[in-house]
Amino acid sequence: MAASGSVLDARDQQVGTSLEIRSATDADWPAIARLDATCFGVYNAPATFQAWRTLIAADGSVLACDGGDVVGMAHYLDLRLTVPGGAVLPMAGVTIVAVAPTHRRRGLLRAMFTELHTRIERSYPVAGLTASEGGIYGRFGYGAATIEQELTVDRRTARFRDDAPDPGGVRIVAAADHRDEIEALYERWRTATPGGLQRPRPLWDELFADRDEQRRGGSAWFTLLHPGGYALYRVFGDDPMFVRVAELIPATDDAHVALCRALIGLDLVDTVRFATHPADPLPYLLTDPRAARLTHHQDDLWLRIVDIPAALEARTYAADVSTVVAVSDAFRGTGGRFALQIRDGRAQCAPTDAAAEVEIDLDVLGSLYLGSHRASAFATANRLRATTSAAVTALDAAFATEVQAALGFGF
Ligand SMILES: CC(C)(COP(=O)(O)OP(=O)(O)OC[C@H]1O[C@@H](n2cnc3c(N)ncnc32)[C@H](O)[C@@H]1OP(=O)(O)O)[C@@H](O)C(=O)NCCC(=O)NCCS
Repeated sequence: MAASGSVLDARDQQVGTSLEIRSATDADWPAIARLDATCFGVYNAPATFQAWRTLIAADGSVLACDGGDVVGMAHYLDLRLTVPGGAVLPMAGVTIVAVAPTHRRRGLLRAMFTELHTRIERSYPVAGLTASEGGIYGRFGYGAATIEQELTVDRRTARFRDDAPDPGGVRIVAAADHRDEIEALYERWRTATPGGLQRPRPLWDELFADRDEQRRGGSAWFTLLHPGGYALYRVFGDDPMFVRVAELIPATDDAHVALCRALIGLDLVDTVRFATHPADPLPYLLTDPRAARLTHHQDDLWLRIVDIPAALEARTYAADVSTVVAVSDAFRGTGGRFALQIRDGRAQCAPTDAAAEVEIDLDVLGSLYLGSHRASAFATANRLRATTSAAVTALDAAFATEVQAALGFGF
C-alpha cells in the first residue's frame, strides 16, 4: 500500500528525501525482528515473534525505510477490550514501535503514526498501547487509562488478620494439564474487568509453551488453581529466593484471598511480588498493611479514543450527567464539541454547536474512560477546564466504576 500524501508531506519536511513510509512485506520480517531486538535490547524466540505477528491486522504494519534498510516501524494488533459495564470493543493494539538509533528525532515516529492512525480510523473506535516512556504518547492523543502496581510482601513477617477469610480450595497443578480451566477462568475475569483483553489462541499457546527466553532468569511456571481463579508464578534466586507472580486472575473474591494465602504460605521464600492494580485487597487482609509494600506504580494501558460518540455510548456510568464537552485532538483533528446525556447508566453522545461546559484534550478523555483517573484531579492540573465545579463533580460521579480497571496482558 502506498503511503498517503499527508505522510509524504511530513516525510519531505522532516526526514529528507531518501526515506519512504510503506507497508511491510513478508521479506521485511527478518529486518523487523532485528530492529525490534536492537531497539528493545532483547532477542525474542522466533516462535514468539511469529505468534505476535499472526495478530497484526492486514494493514497493520507501517515501515520507514532508508534505501533498502528498515529504520522505523509501527504496527497494530487486532484486539478486543472490555469497557465498564462489560461491552467489548475492537481495539487497535499499537505495538512493535521503534526507530533506529541512527534515525531518531527526525520525525519518523510522527510520520509512521500518521499513516498507521489513518488506517486504524477505518475500523476501530479505540486504540491502545503500553508505553516504554511516559512522555511520548500524550501528544498523539493517548492517555494513561489503567494503573499497574507491584505489592511486595515480606512473607516472614506478614500475618493474616484473625477475621481475614480463609476459603481454601487451592490446588498445585501443572498448567498444561488444566488449560481449559485456566482459559475459562481468564475469560470470566476479562469479560468482567474494564481493561480486560480477549487472549487470542497464539498467545495462549505462547503462555503454555513457557519458553526459556521468557523466564528472564526465573524458574518454569508454578501454577496454583482454585475453582474461581488461578496464579502463575516463577521463583528467582537461590538464597534468598523470591517469587514473582506474573498472573493472579481472580474471577471470584474467594479465589483472590485463597490464592494470596497460598502464595504467602510458601515458607522458604523471602518475598512474594504481586503484579496487581490499586484496588487490590491484599493489604487489608494483613495485621500490618505495610507488610505489603508498594514497590512499583506506573501507567499500563494508554488509550486513544478514536470514535468519541461510539466509545462513550459503549460503556455504562454510575450517575446522570447532562453537559457539552469540547475535545481537542492536535494530532488528527478528530475532536469537536459533543453533547453528552447520561441517564440510568447509559450515554447518548452526538456532535453539537452548543457552547462547551467542559474542555479537555483527547488524552484526558482516554484517561477518564476506564474510570482509573478522576476528572477533578485533571481539573486541579488545569487539564480539564469547566465553567462550573458542579460539572466536574458530576463527571467524577458518572465515570467512577464498580470494578477497578486492569490491563489483561501486556502487548
Ligand atoms: C520512541 C521512538 C520510537 C521515537 O521515535 P522518533 O522517530 O525519534 O520520534 P519523532 O522524531 O517522530 O518524534 C515525535 C514526537 O515525539 C517526541 N518524542 C520522541 N521520543 C520521545 C521520548 N523518548 N520522550 C519524549 N518525547 C519524545 C518528539 O520530541 C516529537 O515531538 P513533536 O512532534 O511534538 O515535536 C524512538 O526513540 C525509539 O525507537 N525508542 C526506543 C524504542 C521505544 O521506546 N519504542 C516505543 C515503544 S512504546
